[in-house]
Amino acid sequence: MKPYDYLNDLDDLDQFEAELTGARKPKTPARNPKKLPESDAKFLQTQDDSRTNFKFTYKAARFEEGWLLNSLGGFYEHQWISDVLRKIRGGKEASVYLCRAGENIHADLLAVKVYRPRMLRNLKQDHIYREGRIDLGSDGKQLVKDADVHAVAKRTAYGEEIRHQSWIAYEFNTLRTLFEASVDVPQAYEMANNAILMDYIGDLSAAAPALSEISLDRAEAKELFDRSLHNIDLMLSKNFIHGDLSAYNILYWDGDITLIDFPQVVSPGNNRSAYQIFLRDVTRVCEYFIKFGVRANPRKIATDLWTSRGFHVFEEIHPRLLDAEDPQDRKLWERQNRGR
Ligand SMILES: Nc1ncnc2c1ncn2[C@@H]1O[C@H](COP(=O)(O)OP(=O)(O)O)[C@@H](O)[C@H]1O
Ligand SMILES: [Mg+2]
Repeated sequence: MKPYDYLNDLDDLDQFEAELTGARKPKTPARNPKKLPESDAKFLQTQDDSRTNFKFTYKAARFEEGWLLNSLGGFYEHQWISDVLRKIRGGKEASVYLCRAGENIHADLLAVKVYRPRMLRNLKQDHIYREGRIDLGSDGKQLVKDADVHAVAKRTAYGEEIRHQSWIAYEFNTLRTLFEASVDVPQAYEMANNAILMDYIGDLSAAAPALSEISLDRAEAKELFDRSLHNIDLMLSKNFIHGDLSAYNILYWDGDITLIDFPQVVSPGNNRSAYQIFLRDVTRVCEYFIKFGVRANPRKIATDLWTSRGFHVFEEIHPRLLDAEDPQDRKLWERQNRGR
C-alpha cells in the first residue's frame, strides 16, 4: 500500500462521517486520477485485482466499506487477515474491528485499529505530547527528507498527513517495544498508513471490557492495582509514559489486564510536561482502584516511581511555559534535567 493513498478517499470518508452524524456535507467533485508511469500502473492494477476479492462478513455502511477496503486491503493481500467480522468499538479518533487472521499470522482472531484522518483535529494539545519527539514516516523510521521535516514544521496539508502518520507509527513502535519488554500490551503485527493490526483481547462472542466497565472485589482490585503499577514502572524503565492511561484504556479478560491506546506516549527525559503527564496517569489509575477499597496516595506513588528511576520532578512548570516553545526555557530545563 502506498502512503497517503487513503487521502483519495477523503471524499468518501466525508460522506461516511456525514452519514454517521446525520450532517449534510456539500458534494465535492471527483478528483481526476493522475496519470501514472506504466510500471506503477501495473503495480496498482495487480493490487486492485486482488483487493476486489476482499469481501468481508461485517456489514459496513457504504462509505465505511470503502474506507475499510482501502485501509485494510494491504493486510488482506499479504494474508495477514482473511475477514473482518465485526466492529468492536467506533470512536472519534479510531474504530477497532475484530478480524479473522490470515494464513501468514499465527493467530485465530486479531484486532485492527483503523484511524480516522480527522484524528489530529481532536488532539488540541498535541504540542505537549510532541515535545521531544522525532517524527516518524510510514515505515516507522525517523523522517529523513528535509522536505518532509519542513512540511511538518510549516503545517502544510502534506505535513499534517505526516504528523498523522507519525502518531500511528509511535503507537505501533511502542506496542512492539513494550511487548518485547513483557509489558501487558497486545502484540502488534503490522502497520499500514492508518491502521494497526494486533492481538485481539476477548473471544468470538465478546471483546474484553475495559476496567471502567466492570466492578472488582477488593482482593482482585488490589492484585490488579499492583499489576497496573508494575506495568507503569516497567514502561518508565523503558522510557515510556503512556500519556492517556485510565480505566478506559486497560482491558480486563480472564483475570488479566492489557494496556492499550498508545499514540500519545511521552518520553520521561525529553519532555518538560513528562512528570505532570505521568502523575495524571498514576492518579487516574489510583482513582479507579480506590473505588474498590484499595488504599493509594497517587502523588506519593508517582514521585517514588519517578525518582527511583532517576528522573527529576519538575512540579513547578507552569502549563503556559509549555505552550511557549521558547528555546531559552527549554535550555534551562535541559540544564536542570542534566543535574538530576
Ligand atoms: N486489542 C484489542 N482487543 C480488544 N478490544 C480492543 C483492542 N484494542 C482496542 N479495543 C477496543 O477498542 C476501543 C478503542 O481502542 P483504543 O485503542 O482505546 O482507541 P481510542 O480510545 O483512541 O478510540 C477500546 O476501548 C477497546 O474497547
Ligand atoms: Mg482508548
